[in-house]
Amino acid sequence: MRVLAVLWTFSFLLKEAQAWGFKNGIFHNSIWLEQAAGVYHRESRKGRYQLTFKEAKAVCKYEGGKLATYEQLEAARQIGFHVCAAGWFDKGRVGYPIVKAGANCGFGKIGIVDYGYRLNKSERWDVYCYNPHSKECGGVLTDQQRIIQSPGFPEEYQDEQICYWHIRVRLGQRIQLHFLEFDVEDDTACLGDYLDVYDSYDDVSGFVGRFCGDYLPDDIVSTGNVMTLKFLSDASVTAGGFKLHYTAFNASLEYDKKLFL
Ligand SMILES: *[C@@H]1O[C@H](CO)[C@@H](O)[C@H](O)[C@H]1NC(C)=O
Ligand SMILES: *[C@@H]1O[C@H](CO)[C@@H](O)[C@H](O)[C@H]1NC(C)=O
Repeated sequence: MRVLAVLWTFSFLLKEAQAWGFKNGIFHNSIWLEQAAGVYHRESRKGRYQLTFKEAKAVCKYEGGKLATYEQLEAARQIGFHVCAAGWFDKGRVGYPIVKAGANCGFGKIGIVDYGYRLNKSERWDVYCYNPHSKECGGVLTDQQRIIQSPGFPEEYQDEQICYWHIRVRLGQRIQLHFLEFDVEDDTACLGDYLDVYDSYDDVSGFVGRFCGDYLPDDIVSTGNVMTLKFLSDASVTAGGFKLHYTAFNASLEYDKKLFL
């Protein structure tokens, strides 16, 4: 019994670990989360830890937002916002949100790692901004079923869109994607416009497929209770867009049998 429990815990942890990833040497969970709750992380175009407090405020303002408050940062953290980089937030405070404890980040702590209100506003950090209206597509979806469509559908989508949808249903459930309409700029390698599907709560791991053209993709079923969809359009040529439907279902052996045997 005990061995079984340990094995189960181990495989669960393994699966959890796989849902996270390293990108550019940073342990993080990617951009869709930044849009969730309207909180997002920015660094200077010059790179990591280059912004004074004044410059940090300007970065948020440039995009129509403002510095995130501690409460907003914590709210985002609660839905999975995890960034291993200290940034300015409201009133000259510095810190970063940690969801998963790690040896290399956050001193093993979970929560907002808080460096406090900085007396020296010339110190250089990254920044956490807040702007709930910055994006017109994507978001965190927790409904049992829902339609997801390209921005403006059934009108053609616009150039230079980037949307992240994160689907999170109840633990123990799985997600089935069913495509209803699909028409995205066609090129052989899908480099122009595309829809990426990830069997994960980020766009770092669990890549399932990239879709473009006007061929209706087959249904896609998740292995866990989360999925991420990313839609990107480049600066030229648009198309009709896509519409799909997702449904949550209770994971069961019966279903696996039907699906895989
Ligand atoms: C404030 O921080 C900047 C950047 O780290 C540093 O160059 C400067 O000496 C600091 N000023 C004081 C008074 O400590
Ligand atoms: C799925 O599981 C939940 C919780 O275990 C239960 O309340 C619900 O009735 C189940 N739904 C179906 C369709 O079996």
